[in-house]
Amino acid sequence: MKQITYPFPRLGIVGGGQLGKMLVQAASKLSIPVTVLDPSSSAPACVVTDKIVTAPFDDLQGYMSLARNCDVITVEREDISILYLQSCIDEGCQLFPSPDCLAILQDKFLQKQWLVDQNIPTCRFQNCDDPSLEVTNLFGYPLVQKAKQGGFDGRGVQVIRGPSDAGLLFQVPSILETVVDIEMELAVMVARGQDGEVVVYPVTEMVFESKRNILDHLIVPARVSLEKQHAAQDLARHCVNSLKLVGLVGVELFLTKSGELLVNEISPRPHNSGHYTIEACQTSQYEQHIRAIMGWPLGSPELLCPAVMVNLLGEGQPGNPQIRGFREAMAMSGVFVHLYGKERVLPGRKMGHVVILDDDVERAISKALEVKSCLGIFGVLHDEGEKT
Ligand SMILES: Nc1ncnc2c1ncn2[C@@H]1O[C@H](COP(=O)(O)OP(=O)(O)OP(=O)(O)O)[C@@H](O)[C@H]1O
Ligand SMILES: [Mg+2]
Repeated sequence: MKQITYPFPRLGIVGGGQLGKMLVQAASKLSIPVTVLDPSSSAPACVVTDKIVTAPFDDLQGYMSLARNCDVITVEREDISILYLQSCIDEGCQLFPSPDCLAILQDKFLQKQWLVDQNIPTCRFQNCDDPSLEVTNLFGYPLVQKAKQGGFDGRGVQVIRGPSDAGLLFQVPSILETVVDIEMELAVMVARGQDGEVVVYPVTEMVFESKRNILDHLIVPARVSLEKQHAAQDLARHCVNSLKLVGLVGVELFLTKSGELLVNEISPRPHNSGHYTIEACQTSQYEQHIRAIMGWPLGSPELLCPAVMVNLLGEGQPGNPQIRGFREAMAMSGVFVHLYGKERVLPGRKMGHVVILDDDVERAISKALEVKSCLGIFGVLHDEGEKT
């Protein structure tokens, strides 16, 4: 067995958003030195580390500087150019997930094609480099258009209902998908270590806000039969094993009205739907990712308590953050509030999340509704008091 040396290898994280912040927090528990690369010196992760490379994501010098300060590099977002990541490998760093895995997963078409090649069930889709009425007419309506690259949180995704929507088409290389008749959206986190060990987290049920296509809350364990839960976990395990990916991934699935499970997408990083693991599981998804990429034994993904997670999305107008209902939320037992520390509120922007634990999942859901009705972050104009 390979000896683990101490002090541990220095970790670099490309991206200092909330996922980066929670990765830093997990790393700091084990005193792993972490450097974060982000364009903003006030990104959420910068609150928890002072080792920051402030550089745009398309600046080679930034990656060179990160590589000089790190031994192992990972990403909190998948849309980073492989060329830059490769340059870190050329500087002698290890990169997880591998550039090969990232190249497949950062392009929605390549990812879908890969799923088909692996015989992993997914919905009907088509490549569409030049979106036009002719192409969508041939594909058939209603359809979902997804930008191949750079989309997240539902941005870059839209439903085209018929020819009259053609004017809405994003003029970017895309894929077209059939609209799936969804009974429930599910997600499964899976981690795979350097030696091929795999652990699978419980199945989470994701409830979306239909208008903005963004996760509203999630429930774990998902309220589906054990048989379906095992089938979803098997599919997720199969995805990660076939990719031979090292690290943690979130596998998003659709359970269709006819009872089929389809893989929607694979995210090669800790996932929004895995935040709950910090409080509810033996090993959080963040620590698990670190264990996997460091080549350490993986931790147990066991669920210690049913959980509900609520996203705190920015409300009102763009502006400085103001919070309401914080005292009430903090006074509730089994309620864990996370604030990302973003300096500016934008409507729909992820500003934080709340995890609610309760032995009774239905009780956790009602508590989550209470939290949602009292707690909120909204924007106010900078010098509101001085406007007059
Ligand atoms: N083929 C489809 N049929 C029906 N609904 C869909 C389809 N594809 C996507 N959606 C809806 O749009 C949401 C966002 O799609 P998807 O996850 O592919 O995009 P994304 O921008 O990568 O989102 P995120 O970053 O939030 O995961 C899905 O969770 C689902 O609610
Ligand atoms: Mg998604």
